Amino acid sequence: MIGTGYVGLVSGACFADIGHTVYCVDKNEDIIKKLNLGKPTIYEPGLREIIKENYRSKRLFFTTNISEALKKSDIVFICVGTPSKKNSLSVDLSYIFKVAREILKFSKKKKIVITKSTVPVGTGDQIEKILKDKKKFTVISNPEFLREGEAIRDFRYPDRIIIGSNEKNSLNIMKKLYLPLINKGAKYFTTNRRGAELIKYASNAFLATKITFINEIANLCEKTGINIEDISLGMGSDVRIGSRFLRAGPAYGGSCFPKDTKGLVSIGDKEKIDLSLVRSVIKSNENRKKLLLKRVHSIVGKNIRNKKIVFLGVTFKPNTDDMRDSASLSMIPYLQKKGAKILYYEPTGEKKEFSNLKNCKFYNQIHLACKDADLIILHTEWDEFKTLDFNKVVKNKKYKLYDLRNLYNQDEMMKNKIKYFSIGRPVFN
Ligand SMILES: NC(=O)c1ccc[n+]([C@@H]2O[C@H](COP(=O)([O-])OP(=O)(O)OC[C@H]3O[C@@H](n4cnc5c(N)ncnc54)[C@H](O)[C@@H]3O)[C@@H](O)[C@H]2O)c1
Repeated sequence: MIGTGYVGLVSGACFADIGHTVYCVDKNEDIIKKLNLGKPTIYEPGLREIIKENYRSKRLFFTTNISEALKKSDIVFICVGTPSKKNSLSVDLSYIFKVAREILKFSKKKKIVITKSTVPVGTGDQIEKILKDKKKFTVISNPEFLREGEAIRDFRYPDRIIIGSNEKNSLNIMKKLYLPLINKGAKYFTTNRRGAELIKYASNAFLATKITFINEIANLCEKTGINIEDISLGMGSDVRIGSRFLRAGPAYGGSCFPKDTKGLVSIGDKEKIDLSLVRSVIKSNENRKKLLLKRVHSIVGKNIRNKKIVFLGVTFKPNTDDMRDSASLSMIPYLQKKGAKILYYEPTGEKKEFSNLKNCKFYNQIHLACKDADLIILHTEWDEFKTLDFNKVVKNKKYKLYDLRNLYNQDEMMKNKIKYFSIGRPVFN
């Protein structure tokens, strides 16, 4: 596995766990050092134990030496990042191509080279060009669908395993690699390489569209006295629609949807196909960030100087420490700039993203953060936020609560005399 981040580390550890010998390579020495000391470098439930067990059984190795790792391997997964280019929709493939050049440089024997990273249509063709020798290298696309926070389960029980190859001979090896999962019932299918590359982008863009759709309907609900929960339930009960990714909340974020929706539009642009639907999803999601901030003003007033605003959770979703494109990254700096005092509690600890912000402080206990709050913003739906007794936790009698995840029942909150605001529900306060 080249690249030992969220995808490379989880996949590497889990491949070792189903019996393969895995070398996880990363150019970041700090990551490899920590992993060799048994310290996971990301927060992912269950990962620590799997790493420990397979490391001890000598099926899982961590190294910065790509040449050594390549010498010992038959199959290479490229798992490095594919971020958006700065100020552009298109995908930065420089990490991918750098790895391809290193594979060419250090490989002595035949190899299957697989992109697990999310890459635009045609990237496999470009990697093939870099690797030159078609007899020595087979380039395959095997997109990754794991969800952070549930990544181990997603590896063990995937909805589907997709192998994109233009060459039939290597398919047997791929099947063998995944056989323990296929034997447990995982849906496995093959397509051509470009097909697999596009399935990944199309899937992420579709899910982002679903979230954006329900978020827009939530805006309508707020104006018309309807509860979005009823709409989600009513719509989601239709099996053609499905209930997942149909819960209104903040703008979608994370390491995939924002960059992959943009990436898909840029693939379309390159082929002169206007993917106008995805384009408008990106725009709507950007607008949502501003819209929720406007709502914060309508809750606590135009002048928020010295108001104490508490964030419960800052990651883009629970059970991960990943901050990439989290809605909090635009909300917190905005509110801080307007003079608010930001206090935040986050189960995965203090975040470097906010360390240079004045008047933005991390607390390692919920009650310490909330004590004097004027407004609590329930940002991430960690389990520990689901059953809080706010009137006990907050000492300031006039506090307000803005629940971006609709974790609490509005009637209960009213009964407890809490000034409660949520997403897509009639406003009583
Ligand atoms: N994170 C997810 O939930 C997820 C899910 C599905 C697919 N993906 C895709 O998988 C890819 C990787 O995502 P991630 O979240 O794991 O990224 P990440 O940033 O967590 O990890 C990438 C790692 O690659 C290393 N790296 C970069 N260049 C290298 C090189 N030349 N040699 C060795 N190591 C190198 C970096 O140091 C880093 O540790 C992306 O294309 C992403 O879109 C991510």
